[in-house]
Amino acid sequence: MKLGKLTLAIATAATVLVVGCTASKTVSEESLGLRKTTIYNEKDTTADKVMYGKDAAGASKKIARAFQDAPPMIPHDVEGMLPITIENNQCTMCHEPAVAESMGATPIPKSHFMDFRPKHNFDGKQFTKAIDNMKNEVSVKPIEQLAGARFNCSQCHAPQTTGKLAVENNFEAAYTKDNGAFKSSWDEVILDDLDTLKK
Ligand code: HEC
Ligand code: HEC
Repeated sequence: MKLGKLTLAIATAATVLVVGCTASKTVSEESLGLRKTTIYNEKDTTADKVMYGKDAAGASKKIARAFQDAPPMIPHDVEGMLPITIENNQCTMCHEPAVAESMGATPIPKSHFMDFRPKHNFDGKQFTKAIDNMKNEVSVKPIEQLAGARFNCSQCHAPQTTGKLAVENNFEAAYTKDNGAFKSSWDEVILDDLDTLKK
């Protein structure tokens, strides 16, 4: 009983101490988190309107890539092109390597004509893997047609909106190649060496 009271007294003293300490150093609610406004209403919290480029394909200006070999953003209007369906993929009509140059479009790179999925083995009883992940092995096979995994272009390539950002973006891209802002270099390394553990 006595011990209980003593513990309570210590706990109370500790609380007073903690409260005493924090009281001198106040952290305002507005300074926590990314939004720098009051958290009690939504005034001034909504971001700028989404404004996708309206320039038609062929008349737009390419957007610098976010980093070396980043998927480029779509600089042109995509009105009427999305969603991409199995019957209707307009992106390939202009970006297929065979026609891209005549359309003034960047050709779909070699990486999109490759199968990265290993064909594992199953003899009806036993399943064995075709690659050894522990040895960092990968399977890369060039194929004739656009890889199914690359069919849905807008899964990785998206239009970019202009407008004011709610939070300032001070990211600066550093490219490993001189033309990295506008050209992918992945084709050059892909069949050569994909060992990411090697320096
Ligand atoms: C009518 C032809 C046409 C169609 C359809 C088209 N594009 Fe384009 N695309 C272009 C042209 C031309 C450019 C180069 C910029 C320009 O001149 O407007 C381009 C640029 C791009 C770029 C930037 C490439 C770079 O090097 O920075 C991407 C990404 C892209 N398009 C993706 C797409 C996707 C995804 C679709 C389908 C939703 C699509 N495009 C449909 C013609 C087309
Ligand atoms: C799974 C994600 C993914 C999908 C799906 C995809 N891409 Fe890409 N794309 C990338 C990445 C990553 C790069 C940059 C690295 C590279 O070249 O492979 C790229 C690069 C490109 C480039 C620039 C090539 C260059 O030489 O600089 C074009 C053009 C392009 N893609 C068009 C397309 C089109 C058109 C489709 C749909 C048919 C598509 N992509 C589907 C991820 C994707």
